[in-house]
Amino acid sequence: MPRYLVTGGAGFVGSHLVLALLDRGAEVVVLDNLSQGHRAAVPSGATLVEADLADATRVAEVFAAWRFDAVLHFAALSLVGASMKDPLHYIAENVGHSLRLAEAAIKAGCLRFVLSSTAALFGEPERVPIDEECRIAPSNPYGDSKRMVEEGLAWAERIHGLRYAALRYFNAAGSDPAGRAGEDHDPETHLVPLAIDAALGRRPALTVFGDDYPTPDGTCIRDYVHVTDLAEAHLAALVRLETHGSCRYNIGSGTGASVKEVIAAVERVGGRQVPHSIGPRRAGDPAVLVAASDRLRAETGWAPRLGALDDIVRTAWAWREKHPRGYGDR
Ligand code: UFG
Repeated sequence: MPRYLVTGGAGFVGSHLVLALLDRGAEVVVLDNLSQGHRAAVPSGATLVEADLADATRVAEVFAAWRFDAVLHFAALSLVGASMKDPLHYIAENVGHSLRLAEAAIKAGCLRFVLSSTAALFGEPERVPIDEECRIAPSNPYGDSKRMVEEGLAWAERIHGLRYAALRYFNAAGSDPAGRAGEDHDPETHLVPLAIDAALGRRPALTVFGDDYPTPDGTCIRDYVHVTDLAEAHLAALVRLETHGSCRYNIGSGTGASVKEVIAAVERVGGRQVPHSIGPRRAGDPAVLVAASDRLRAETGWAPRLGALDDIVRTAWAWREKHPRGYGDR
């Protein structure tokens, strides 16, 4: 039975990946400091090691205790806005933790590594949809920290033979269709859960960050990809690592939706209005970010199964309606 180490497996995308691995009969060890993740998000079939990646001794102990087929690394600071306020902290933590984790894996003889990377690598993109050949030019420290990690992994590939997959997520959203996991951030900054909570009357009205962008309705366009499809993309990347070596993929549904279209989808699916008003632009928001995921599709056969915006909103709505306090541990 394959065994995987999943850092950040108590977080939103990580916990959905853990479910996908367990569903396939794999053994999973989650390493998470629970600073952003939730104990209850770790499925009972996985082993949780509550530890911080800064604790090199503890990380080495984990690699000594288990032999892993691959490391899937989700644990990171991931808020663009926060990274603009505290750039050095973001870079030091994301880069330092990731590369030391890769170093520990290599030392332990584990030469397969999957990195949660980001569309933020591309900054204001030179073309849309964004393919893997687009210029890498992050416009915030968060995106730049992931760029640095990707580069570090490329050196580890050349020198140590590490095989890595850098998966650039666009906007992860939705929830496990079976209702076993959901999205619960503190603070919540993401559009889909904020719009749903506003519709459910649990939050004040949503503020739309600008309606004067050069898009058809004036609001920003993003590529929302279902978190379960994203998890499946990791499984596809793991197979690809074995057969072809390292890879870098942009992962989205390939379709853009504006903020107003997301609001309309929430109203359609939930049958309630989303109270909202138009506010100023949020610093650092590009007008349009849509992925070209053709490479991932062509090379691995992956395709989103829950790609429609209504599927994303329906699953997210179901989980949040059922879990008014999220995982209830904050
Ligand atoms: N938005 C609003 N109001 C809100 C929240 C968001 O109008 O209250 C808008 C944003 O301006 C943006 C869209 O909704 O246009 C989506 O915003 P999110 O905050 O949900 O997601 P982002 O696109 O900002 O960020 C996501 C990931 C980041 C990643 C980035 C890459 O969360 O980690 O995509 O593009 F870096």
